[in-house]
Amino acid sequence: MNKLIVSLLLTVGISGIAHAAGDATAGQAKAAVCGACHGPDGNSMAPNFPKLAGQGERYLNKQLHDIKSGKRTVLEMTGLLTNLSDQDLADIAAYFASQKGSVGAADPKVVARGEALFRGGDIAKGLPACTGCHSPNGAGNAAAGFPHLGGQHAQYIAKQLTDFRKEEGGRSNDGDTKTMQTIAKRLSDEDIAAVSSYIQGLH
Ligand code: HEC
Ligand code: HEC
Repeated sequence: MNKLIVSLLLTVGISGIAHAAGDATAGQAKAAVCGACHGPDGNSMAPNFPKLAGQGERYLNKQLHDIKSGKRTVLEMTGLLTNLSDQDLADIAAYFASQKGSVGAADPKVVARGEALFRGGDIAKGLPACTGCHSPNGAGNAAAGFPHLGGQHAQYIAKQLTDFRKEEGGRSNDGDTKTMQTIAKRLSDEDIAAVSSYIQGLH
């Protein structure tokens, strides 16, 4: 085959992946197996299983590709995505994005510290406010792929921040800029506990 045609096919293929539009109705059936852990509508009951309901479609799609390729390790999901196509992943992302996320409660003992950090960051530690990307009500920025955090289980949030902070064997799929890894390295254990609890009650 002519080189130009091959490269054109590749370009079309790649942009096709990036723009595959998800179909929420088709996604509901494909997501049936996920409900055991994440809840049928994406509102999981267990604090270590993240809620997916109301999460941004772009962010969900990125995580599914990262988990499938092994860029992000989720042992509980081993093999589950292997036979799903890019269209399947897009449909599932669209389904969970279309659901309404539930909200929990913050621990009153640490809520003030968590709120101060989330809204104002910490200039002395070089920490930006979380609101800049995740928005003041925790809704994130779906178009930019900044995840929705509000109402997420505190235990799950704390694990992600701890994983982003790890030098090795943690979570390193936060793009070339390593934004979350840089931020998490400046958070103490107490900061993580407080901000995670605040996020659980945020809406
Ligand atoms: C056996 C339980 C289990 C099943 C079944 C499961 N997951 Fe997960 N999933 C997890 C756990 C645990 C995590 C979080 C791992 C961590 O702490 O980083 C996760 C993380 C995710 C995330 C990342 C969420 C975020 O906020 O970053 C997505 C997206 C996801 N799962 C989608 C799915 C889909 C789609 C299916 C069905 C095809 C599925 N999961 C099935 C346990 C499960
Ligand atoms: C400059 C933008 C930016 C700022 C500021 C920022 N984040 Fe993030 N955050 C991101 C992006 C982008 C991701 C998604 C990374 C990926 O693709 O995996 C993310 C992911 C996360 C996740 C994982 C969510 C999930 O569902 O797994 C948590 C938790 C989080 N951020 C918490 C925070 C907290 C707490 C702060 C403030 C201390 C903060 N972020 C500040 C951009 C930002």
